[in-house]
Amino acid sequence: MKVMLAKRAGFCFGVKRATQMAFEAAGKDQKTFTLGPIIHSPQVVNKLEEMGVGVVKDLSGVSNGTVIIRSHGVLASEMDEAHQKQLEVVDATCPFVKKAQEHVQYLSEAGYDVLVVGDADHPEVQGIVSYGKEKVYVVASGDQVKQLPKMGKMGVVAQTTQSFDNLKSVVTACLRRGGEVRVYNTICDATAVRQQEATELAQQVDCMIVIGGFNSANTRRLAEICTEIQPRTYHIETAAEIDCSWFQGVETVGVTAGASTPKWIIDEVMDRLDQVNNSH
Ligand code: F3S
Repeated sequence: MKVMLAKRAGFCFGVKRATQMAFEAAGKDQKTFTLGPIIHSPQVVNKLEEMGVGVVKDLSGVSNGTVIIRSHGVLASEMDEAHQKQLEVVDATCPFVKKAQEHVQYLSEAGYDVLVVGDADHPEVQGIVSYGKEKVYVVASGDQVKQLPKMGKMGVVAQTTQSFDNLKSVVTACLRRGGEVRVYNTICDATAVRQQEATELAQQVDCMIVIGGFNSANTRRLAEICTEIQPRTYHIETAAEIDCSWFQGVETVGVTAGASTPKWIIDEVMDRLDQVNNSH
């Protein structure tokens, strides 16, 4: 059986960078922790824990040591608290998320009413919003723009994982309201590219394996996309879950992985598939 691995399977640039920074910080002999789990991978979180890097929900009980900021960022107030407590800060916020935070801060200071296109419950969005002063609104779609109160000049920024079409629908709704509209396209295409590759791969194979945390939204979405095309799609977290019976009558297998899946887990899955191949 032929096994094909998607080119962009696994860590995006920002997650790779954040994980590297966390593992580097783990080597130092200070008390070190991450503010919230560094990424949505229980395997990475456990590995860091073994190296002495714990996870804290907030900074209330912390008075010294090193704090690592996760790739999708934290609230401006949490960053301030870390500095006030003179903690050593390893800021692993993805530079693309950081840009969105900076644009909101700038727009807000320059007197714009700010619209953040995204999911209000997502920590990345909450972090981005926190960099603005008053009059920062989160909208999930263009329709919601109609319900907003009267606004002056409008500034628009997007959650990095938003689709271009959704950003466009919000901008169009803003333009319809009239007046000045200033837009920063802060979408990162890593997710869209990974999904596109998975779509193309699922069309060519008899079975798809999607690797990633069961709690990772982007991995679950990848699995959904693949299942729609290839019903023989299996979402797994580790190589140990692979069952030989999945591959009966299968000639080609496609493999992809979510943004928070470390390379070592992908390698283990590829090795396991090799073993399955050799045992046939
Ligand atoms: Fe950054 Fe894009 Fe990844 S915003 S964390 S590179 S999905």
